[in-house]
Amino acid sequence: MPNINWFPGHMAKARNQVQEKLKQVDLVLEIVDARIPEASRNPMMNQIVGQKPRIMVLNKQDLADPQATARWLRYYQDQGFAALAIDAQHAKRLNQISALARKLMAAKLEKQKARGIRNPSLRAMCIGIPNVGKSTVLNRLVKKNIAVVGNRPGVTKNQQWLKVDDSLALLDTPGILWPKFDDQLIGQKLALTGAIADSVFQEDTVGLYGLDFFQTHYPQALRRAYQLTADDMALSAPDLMVVLAKKLGFGDNYNRAAERVIFDARQGKFGPFTLEVPDDDAEGL
Ligand code: G4P
Repeated sequence: MPNINWFPGHMAKARNQVQEKLKQVDLVLEIVDARIPEASRNPMMNQIVGQKPRIMVLNKQDLADPQATARWLRYYQDQGFAALAIDAQHAKRLNQISALARKLMAAKLEKQKARGIRNPSLRAMCIGIPNVGKSTVLNRLVKKNIAVVGNRPGVTKNQQWLKVDDSLALLDTPGILWPKFDDQLIGQKLALTGAIADSVFQEDTVGLYGLDFFQTHYPQALRRAYQLTADDMALSAPDLMVVLAKKLGFGDNYNRAAERVIFDARQGKFGPFTLEVPDDDAEGL
């Protein structure tokens, strides 16, 4: 993936900002895109978050392949995380976050109760790379954006806490954590799902990656979307792109066809999809 630089200096700054704020929370909600759960993670996330209890939140569930999502949930649970798939945009399953947080932190809540705290509450922080839906999650969870000023020991004065319910408060997301887009395949996945700006990738490469992917993994959906024949489907992806350009009225403008494939994938024209499954080999799904 050319033209994309991953700045170690920026990374270090964001990492420090997050780690500073981590001290103030009981648990972390790591938000990822359910279509690319690993590609949409910051490569240093495990180091950054360390042992802090974590809920892996697979957002954009509505856009992802349900079977793949089920596999990913098991995968993260097997790694010792709590995990949940949600659709923040349509406010689906969001209410399960608080319940899952209480379950994950049951021992701590019990301890607080034993110390005489009548309504113990938890503090959490949403983290994730840009575009996974952190703001949407926050806005939907908090509804009216009620800001609560921190008044507990160890909490920075005037720290804004967003109240989800009586037992959960969220800290606004700190810093920007970037994905690992210096890896070509990861970059393509991020581009196809719209996680990175169009100006930083080559559309023909990403479009071709997408076409090849759908041709291999979701052939029926691709066929239906563009009314392709069995012969079309038997072509190599580059040859199919040439056919598609003609079919779409773009003549021999291959790039416009590639752009269209990207656009249509993001719009859901091929239905829900997931670009990677757990324990992938280097070739992706
Ligand atoms: P961020 O804070 O992590 O950067 O992400 P943000 O909430 O801004 O969400 C990025 C995009 O993803 C937004 O779309 C948002 O609407 C969309 N989104 C968030 N959660 C979901 C989800 O569960 N399902 C679907 N389908 N989309 C989701 P946008 O096109 O950038 O903006 P807009 O169309 O909402 O104006």
